[in-house]
Amino acid sequence: MDGRMTLAPAPALSRPDAPGVPISLRGLGKRFGAAVAVDDISLDVPAGAFLVLLGPSGCGKSTTLRMLAGLEEPTSGTIALGDRVVADGGAGMHVPPGRRGIGMVFQGYALWPHMTVRQNIEWPLRVARWSAPERRARIAETLALVELEALAERHPAQLSGGQQQRVAIARTIAPRPSVLLFDEPLSNLDARLRVDLRAELMRVHRESGATSVYVTHDQGEALAMATHVAVMRDGRIEQLGTPQELLQEPATAFVAEFLGTPPAVLVPGRGEGESFVPDPGGALLAMYRPDAVRLAAADGGALDVDVLESTPLAGRLVTTVRHGDRRIAIVGEDAAHAAAVGAARARLVLPASPVRTFAREGAGL
Ligand SMILES: Nc1ncnc2c1ncn2[C@@H]1O[C@H](COP(=O)(O)OP(=O)(O)OP(=O)(O)O)[C@@H](O)[C@H]1O
Ligand SMILES: [Mg+2]
Repeated sequence: MDGRMTLAPAPALSRPDAPGVPISLRGLGKRFGAAVAVDDISLDVPAGAFLVLLGPSGCGKSTTLRMLAGLEEPTSGTIALGDRVVADGGAGMHVPPGRRGIGMVFQGYALWPHMTVRQNIEWPLRVARWSAPERRARIAETLALVELEALAERHPAQLSGGQQQRVAIARTIAPRPSVLLFDEPLSNLDARLRVDLRAELMRVHRESGATSVYVTHDQGEALAMATHVAVMRDGRIEQLGTPQELLQEPATAFVAEFLGTPPAVLVPGRGEGESFVPDPGGALLAMYRPDAVRLAAADGGALDVDVLESTPLAGRLVTTVRHGDRRIAIVGEDAAHAAAVGAARARLVLPASPVRTFAREGAGL
């Protein structure tokens, strides 16, 4: 996708004195030797937004975040936080991490084991030369925000994993950074805790007013947390939009297949006049909603599929079938669907017209 991408403004912030600043990336790139990790990214993130960078392993999410943080120098392009350019790959200009007004929470966060919770949170305030009364007030405020007041005098070893994570978050937000960066901060926690901390992080984001950039490869997490999502692939941004826009109007087949539980149904085929004709060798992929496609008994036609598995989801069935080299998940609750699930072969009944069509990867239109 070429050109610069701009996000709609984020919802109003709860604090009038919100410190969030807009972030803008222009032609940002990073090479490691001959390998391109990030390839010419341009985007604008409004102040106070919660942007999620989402994409498969190795697509350049962490490298992008590390360049924002100042831990990696771009090989091309610029990064501006507010009206301040903090990195310029072409000019070799690079503001060090400590002078960017950012806070970072990474997966492998480390608390200082010899310091109490209070001291851990106080440390960055000392480094930033806050006065003792300012520090006291801010520590109290931050402890309240992450609901750790009662544990302030404990050491990290006396806390659960989730509590330690909250201390790490409190320590990050205490100096009021204008940008918060998160790299899969919840990925080593159990499922229940992840959901709790997700909600907590979103509250912290809102109350701090900081502009947040959050990296994950978990689309459920992305869709639950983001005001805006950038889907990345091979070092580039495939699509940028609100969660709703990505689900309703995916720009590419890659986005359509990456998002949604289950994701959209994509059927190969070709165009004949105004209509779409299913064809395993066709150059198009037609997109349908997983609950708009019906499953029926096989009849030896073009859309016969192999039934692979079926699992209940909130009173309905999600059935995975194979069509040529594609796996397709559809959602149904009618008797025909249930009957078809019992057979090894079934047939897909498509709505009259697809939601949209894409050029098939590698195939010209
Ligand atoms: N220091 C480095 N030296 C060489 N190559 C690197 C370096 N750091 C990252 N890369 C490569 O750059 C590409 C992008 O890596 P990056 O860590 O940004 O991916 P990611 O999207 O965060 O993936 P994951 O979801 O697995 O964390 C990968 O191909 C990776 O191997
Ligand atoms: Mg990563």
